[in-house]
Amino acid sequence: MTDITIQKAQESDWSYIQEKLDKYVLDATDAKWHQFFVAKLDGKTVAFTRIIERGDAVELASMGVDYYERKKGIGKRLLKFLIEEAKKLYPGKPIFGVTHRPGFLKLLGFKEAKEVPEVLKHKKYHQCALDPSKIKIMRLMV
Ligand SMILES: CC(C)(COP(=O)(O)OP(=O)(O)OC[C@H]1O[C@@H](n2cnc3c(N)ncnc32)[C@H](O)[C@@H]1OP(=O)(O)O)[C@@H](O)C(=O)NCCC(=O)NCCS
Repeated sequence: MTDITIQKAQESDWSYIQEKLDKYVLDATDAKWHQFFVAKLDGKTVAFTRIIERGDAVELASMGVDYYERKKGIGKRLLKFLIEEAKKLYPGKPIFGVTHRPGFLKLLGFKEAKEVPEVLKHKKYHQCALDPSKIKIMRLMV
C-alpha cells in the first residue's frame, strides 16, 4: 500500500486545491483553505476534500484525487478520515454529501437522504455544475 498521510490543509496547499477544484469542476463556493484536508503521497499533495458546516448539519464536499492516483484506495481513505473528523468536530450533527457519484459514498455507509436541509436542496438545483437529475443528496447512516 502506498505511503499516504492525511492532514489539515495549509495555506501553501491553497493554489493546488484551487487549481484542482476548477479542473475537476467541483464545488468551490465560498471555499477557504482552512476548511480542507489533504492527502500526501510520499510528501506530495495528491488529494483534497473539505467539511462545510450547514447549520444543524454537516456536508462533506469538494473531494478530488489526482487523475493518475485514482483507484488506489486514496479516495476511500480520505472519505473515511473525513467522516471521523466530522463526527469529532460536530458531534451529533447529521452528515451529508451532495454528489454525482453516490456509489462511492455508499461504500462507506451513506444512503440517499429522505429528509434534506434546504441549503443542500438549493445547492443541488442552483450550484452544482451538472444537471440536478444526476445529483443525489446522501446521508451517512452509521
Ligand atoms: C471519486 C474519487 C474521489 C474516487 O477516488 P479514488 O481514489 O479513485 O477512489 P478509491 O481508489 O479509494 O476507490 C474506492 C472505492 O470506490 C470505488 N469507486 C470509485 N468511484 C466509484 C463510483 N463512482 N461508484 C462506485 N464505486 C466507486 C472503487 O471501485 C473502490 O471500491 P473498492 O474499495 O471496493 O475497490 C475520484 O475518482 C475523483 O477525484 N473523481 C473526480 C472528482 C469527483 O468526482 N469528486 C466527487 C466525489 S463524491
